[in-house]
Amino acid sequence: MSSNKLETRLVSAGRDKQFAHGAVNPVVQRASSLVFDTVADKKHATANRANGALFYGRRGTETHFALQQAMTELEGGAGCVLYPCGAAAVTNAILSFVSAGGHVLMTGAAYEPTQDFCNVMLAKMNVATSYYNPNQGAEIAELMQPNTQVVFLESPSSITMEVQDIPAIVQAVRAVNPEVVIMIDNTWAAGIQFPALSHGIDISIQAGTKYLIGHSDYMLGTAVANERCLAQLREQSYLMGQMVDADTAYMASRGLRTLAVRLRQHETASLQVAQWLAERPEVDKVNHPALPQCPGHTYFKRDFAGGNGLFAFVLKQRLSDEQMAHFLDHFEHFSMAYSWGGFESLILANQPEELNAIRPAGPVAFSGTLVRLHIGLESVEDLIADLEAGLARIA
Ligand SMILES: Cc1ncc(COP(=O)(O)O)c(C=O)c1O
Repeated sequence: MSSNKLETRLVSAGRDKQFAHGAVNPVVQRASSLVFDTVADKKHATANRANGALFYGRRGTETHFALQQAMTELEGGAGCVLYPCGAAAVTNAILSFVSAGGHVLMTGAAYEPTQDFCNVMLAKMNVATSYYNPNQGAEIAELMQPNTQVVFLESPSSITMEVQDIPAIVQAVRAVNPEVVIMIDNTWAAGIQFPALSHGIDISIQAGTKYLIGHSDYMLGTAVANERCLAQLREQSYLMGQMVDADTAYMASRGLRTLAVRLRQHETASLQVAQWLAERPEVDKVNHPALPQCPGHTYFKRDFAGGNGLFAFVLKQRLSDEQMAHFLDHFEHFSMAYSWGGFESLILANQPEELNAIRPAGPVAFSGTLVRLHIGLESVEDLIADLEAGLARIA
């Protein structure tokens, strides 16, 4: 029976009998070669290779098809393309829709490797990139160029967490040029807290490495596209050799079953920690989308179904190198790592000048050290005690 309730859909998506073969979960079908009994079978597989026929490993097996079906249904698209990591999903989605002489309009607070890809790889191919301020809405229309092919969003922004006014951006871009392909790095929302395609975005990209996998042990990228963009995204990504192994696809499908419960816990706990931090004298501001002091908080309230465990706060002081090490080296429950979205709590710190180096559309508006937290599934009490001890170390 179908349901419009997210928890139910997460449990059932992609678990059709054709994939599960009598088990609860889809089978793990590992394959490079997929064999054909007859010439007619081979012909049929070739003709339907993009539509779920078993053709060759790089086109996927039943394990991949199950995940693709689930993601397509959950994000409300026409289909889903899989990649070996989130960065591959971002870069291949962009590459599939640009050509020499073209232009990409990129958020100026995008994940740093996304910017690096534009600045290094696209530049080499004579595709220009310009950056817009993530706090801009309809004004972005003025930055569109006659050769703009892709407009790229990421909301909330990497590290600094600005929430974008996506309806205003989409409307403004479409008014200038309806053909432009609008994509979003929708990793923070795990694809489900913000229904990108229903807001008129063409492609919703995720580093499935984060909350889909949820346990910090596999890497995956997903891109769910609407009807207009699916075939081009799928076929051009295929030309660039994009695929992921069946075991990873299986683990992502498995991750979906607990995604709602995990996200709810990450969200509740992160809000408690954020509210506690907001009261601390050492803290200048807390950029948690669910708190009013976060830029774009009203858009978050308007457009998002919920949040997660990732946010940042800014200290009043700029830590010296020595203070930084003293602060970060002694946490009991927070580890330092570049990823996020697993069950464990993480911490990273950035100086304002480090952030400014990856903010091509304008510097940050603070002078203290920024700390990014991922709040995991540990006891909130333990995490707050750990943070309290950390703040005491830099008093
Ligand atoms: C917002 C965002 N997008 C994309 C990526 C890239 O994902 P992956 O590490 O799976 O390539 C990351 C990784 O940290 C990320 O934070």
